[in-house]
Amino acid sequence: MQDLSPKEIVKELDRYIIGQDKAKKAVSIALRNRIRRQRLAEELREEVSPKNIIMIGPTGVGKTEIARRLSNLADVPFLKIEATKFTEVGYVGRDVESMVRDLTNMTVNLVKQEAMKKIEKEAIYLAEQKIMDILLPMPKTKRIKKVEEGDMDLQEIEKVRNSREKLFEKLRQGKLENRMIEIDVKDASMPMFEIFAGSGMEGLDMGLSDALSTMLPQKLKKRKVSIVEARRILISEESQKLIDMEEVLKDAINRIENQGIIFLDELDKVVSIGARSGGPDVSREGVQRDLLPIVEGTVVNTRYGPVKTNHILFIAAGTFHDAKPSDMIPELQGRFPIRVELSSLTKDDFIQILTEPQNAIIKQYVALLETEGVDLRFQENAIHEIASIASTVNDSTENIGARRLHTIIEKVVEDISFETPPRKGVVVIDAEYVQSRLRDIIKNEDLSRYIL
Ligand SMILES: Nc1ncnc2c1ncn2[C@@H]1O[C@H](COP(=O)(O)OP(=O)(O)OP(=O)(O)O)[C@@H](O)[C@H]1O
Ligand SMILES: [Mg+2]
Repeated sequence: MQDLSPKEIVKELDRYIIGQDKAKKAVSIALRNRIRRQRLAEELREEVSPKNIIMIGPTGVGKTEIARRLSNLADVPFLKIEATKFTEVGYVGRDVESMVRDLTNMTVNLVKQEAMKKIEKEAIYLAEQKIMDILLPMPKTKRIKKVEEGDMDLQEIEKVRNSREKLFEKLRQGKLENRMIEIDVKDASMPMFEIFAGSGMEGLDMGLSDALSTMLPQKLKKRKVSIVEARRILISEESQKLIDMEEVLKDAINRIENQGIIFLDELDKVVSIGARSGGPDVSREGVQRDLLPIVEGTVVNTRYGPVKTNHILFIAAGTFHDAKPSDMIPELQGRFPIRVELSSLTKDDFIQILTEPQNAIIKQYVALLETEGVDLRFQENAIHEIASIASTVNDSTENIGARRLHTIIEKVVEDISFETPPRKGVVVIDAEYVQSRLRDIIKNEDLSRYIL
């Protein structure tokens, strides 16, 4: 994925998101610029700062969806977080730096998984050898020394070795999975350290439980487990020993600092309308002020060491319906030089959204009912009808974008869903059926406000 050109990135996004070309383009360029930057000479590389983006557009037009798809697409550390999660330091809530810590935890885990993949075979082998030692231990070395006295023991060793080979073969073939054996496991229960987690004190507990767990003696506990379970436990133990954690951390932090992306959703929710509503909202502006150093570049202490944020790319999104980007504190405005607008969705967009994306809603319903032997067929005129109703309801009540399609289609297939099973066979949905399901609701605006 590292090698996708901006055009190819847009093409990938096109598979899931209809329209919104400007946003896709901006995002793809920003992504590619990270790769370009990595190829620069060292001094220049430090100078090139990421061009952070704000995506502005009404609700339900694909802002969050673009971020979601991007994270799957780009093989880089990616964190999506709502700006509303944060409050100013001192208020109740998470402090802003925690997003960098979250990204770090995520990336370290990811890189560790990668490293585990590489040593997987070796770990499995070592784990299975350990299981073999429990199932059928080799004779003690003491007896091997006796070999000189006669070849009885030698034969015995040879015999054990042979049966071990046979048993190992069985183990490999998964024929012993349910046999119970006793293994030593580390006693990992230290619940008291979990209390800190999630209480907004990440800064405090950082590394504390790690430090304590290495200080306290590791207790070993005997446990009777099936071989399946034993293999799982032993593989994980062996992997821990094989992995070079220092290397993993170095790699993870390097990736975060140079390729990391943080998607700040709902940014407009921490922007107050300022003077227009009688004085700025202290706590919201506080969040912006706290965001500033991170976006600008600072060092955040994480449990895995300091992480520089200078080159992390920030993509923000928001409706900016009430508050405008110009209502943000000026310093923060300056840190988001690229603004892209996403447009409202039209009836034609809806038709495409219903049918075209890889995960299109219609495809989802068809697949769901197919599992029960119903062959659901949407006629073209039915799809047009659904799109047109969505468009009308969006205009007459509130515009919630493509989300409207979900509520409408749910209503359309409600009865069919309910009657399946035992219903089987072909079910055709045409425009008339769609109308018959929705006519009464649409006629009554109040009703549609509640139901659709
Ligand atoms: N352009 C689009 N193409 C395909 N599907 C879309 C598009 N826009 C929205 N959708 C669908 O609508 C749903 C809502 O979209 P999304 O979460 O991206 O809204 P949003 O722009 O982030 O809105 P909000 O400002 O309310 O967060 C998504 O699950 C997605 O399936
Ligand atoms: Mg959203």
